[in-house]
Amino acid sequence: MKSVSSNKELKQKVGRRAAEFVKDGMKIGIGTGSTVAFFIEELGRRVKEEGLSIQGVTTSLGSSLLCLKYGIPLMESMHCSHLDLAVDGADEIDPYLNAIKGGGAAHTIEKIIASMADEFILIADETKLVPALCRKFPLPIEVIPASLSYVEKRIRELGGTPEIRNAVRKDGPVISENGNFILDVTFSTPPEDVELLDRQLQNIPGIVETGLFLGIAKKALIGYEDSVEILLPKG
Ligand code: A5P
Repeated sequence: MKSVSSNKELKQKVGRRAAEFVKDGMKIGIGTGSTVAFFIEELGRRVKEEGLSIQGVTTSLGSSLLCLKYGIPLMESMHCSHLDLAVDGADEIDPYLNAIKGGGAAHTIEKIIASMADEFILIADETKLVPALCRKFPLPIEVIPASLSYVEKRIRELGGTPEIRNAVRKDGPVISENGNFILDVTFSTPPEDVELLDRQLQNIPGIVETGLFLGIAKKALIGYEDSVEILLPKG
């Protein structure tokens, strides 16, 4: 198993490489997480040193603060319906480039930003690659607080075990930037058909968004010890 520090190096390599895909004049969707942090840093360097002219739209307050730090001009997603490119991390990526996201509780906005982009690129270190989703990383689901008990019951009926995500260094639950709770769902029997599972979950009143990103990414940059590889969806 890789150490945290070597993961950090892989994330740095892949985040920097992703910044090469950004061209002058682009509107860029900027994801959330520790891999994206390196992407933002490199974008900031290009803005400062190369005079790269871009507009960013972020998926979280954390990423907005980083963009502020590195001098990346931003616009509000509320005013935006189209992006040239979006770049974001992932918690799991399968061979079809379907992904689980939401480890940072930002997946609802992340999915909106990814969906409005002409191209959505996932960036991750090699530990995020899995043969199939929902076997390892719990599936994050954003839920409206008033629906909590009902949504939990419906998720159990689908074979999942929901656990409300608690905050670190604050008592009580994580509250998303949309004012909602996050349920992390594990499955004792892994779902055979994640598309069906996603449809079933999306049909439950109170669920705002699942962390399943199915068929959205057409490219992934994966950081290995000695290289960064470009993956395309299998098949
Ligand atoms: C944020 O909600 C997530 O979707 C992140 O993009 C994901 O957890 C990957 O994060 P790291 O790059 O920190 O591993």
